[in-house]
Amino acid sequence: MRPVVLGSWPTPLEPAPRLAAAVGLAALWVKRDDLSGLGGGGNKVRKLQYTCAQALAAGATTVVTSGGPQSNHARLTAAAAARLGLRSVLVLHGEEPEVPAGNLVLDLLAGARLVWTGPATAEQARLEVERQAEKVRRDGGIPHVIPYGGSNSYAAQGYVDCSGELLAQLPGLDHVIVAFGSGATMAGLVAGLGADRVIGIDTGAVADPDARLSELLDGMPDVRVRRADLQLDGGQVGAGYAAVTPAAREAMRLAARTEGIFLDPTYTARALAGLIARVAGGGIKREDRTVFLHTGGLPGLFGHPELPRLTDP
Ligand SMILES: Cc1ncc(COP(=O)(O)O)c(C=O)c1O
Repeated sequence: MRPVVLGSWPTPLEPAPRLAAAVGLAALWVKRDDLSGLGGGGNKVRKLQYTCAQALAAGATTVVTSGGPQSNHARLTAAAAARLGLRSVLVLHGEEPEVPAGNLVLDLLAGARLVWTGPATAEQARLEVERQAEKVRRDGGIPHVIPYGGSNSYAAQGYVDCSGELLAQLPGLDHVIVAFGSGATMAGLVAGLGADRVIGIDTGAVADPDARLSELLDGMPDVRVRRADLQLDGGQVGAGYAAVTPAAREAMRLAARTEGIFLDPTYTARALAGLIARVAGGGIKREDRTVFLHTGGLPGLFGHPELPRLTDP
């Protein structure tokens, strides 16, 4: 099955000399997947090109997916559905806020129907997705469920595509640093570039990121990687997925003040904090050809519960 085109490709690969100098690298490149075109952009667009192709092939009228209250994946699913003439139902984990902010505003603008789970386990949230798919059926539609965070082994092909772009833009690259949430972004990069060139920075979104990554890679065709070679860094989770760590806060400031690049507190700020820690620890050498993958997520900044404190000195 061919992916459906939803974004603008290739995304730019930009040198970031002032950020490079600030973190102690001779050079650093930023892969701008935040500029992927659809609905405010971000990494989820590449994955949706595959999962939405499956939805269209199945004759779906409505896509149903799930995520956190400020899910970038949910926002981009709503945007992709709009682009393709489909309806969208977003099952969001947590309580409905009194006033929608950040991604929620964009979800609603794109015409998505939002369903709040209240306090729920991952299993309870999965059951709610099934209930919503059943409701679409009862109402005469054809649902297609896109997994939590948009990640499965098929969606990961979107980041095999990105690997091809990177190899054309920077042949001989040594490292790509990427945030790890539901996992398919890193899995696709590992499949496309090899485990030794990809460093995933965990955000705490899933309970067992190692198992998750292995499961995604197992489901991809012709991927041979030794599990021991995978580089998944748990050092930036801090107090958990929803918390803003001091290192992430510092990374957000640094990117904004050296390059005018805005990061989100949950994913990309953690990823840059992980890069900074690796350079400081000697795991990335000054002359290594290093790429920071900007996966988007800026709308999440404006819905983050800690927003009022993010600019504190
Ligand atoms: C902005 C942003 N960056 C990175 C990620 C992580 O991507 P993945 O879920 O494929 O690990 C996500 C998704 O959760 C995201 O929204």
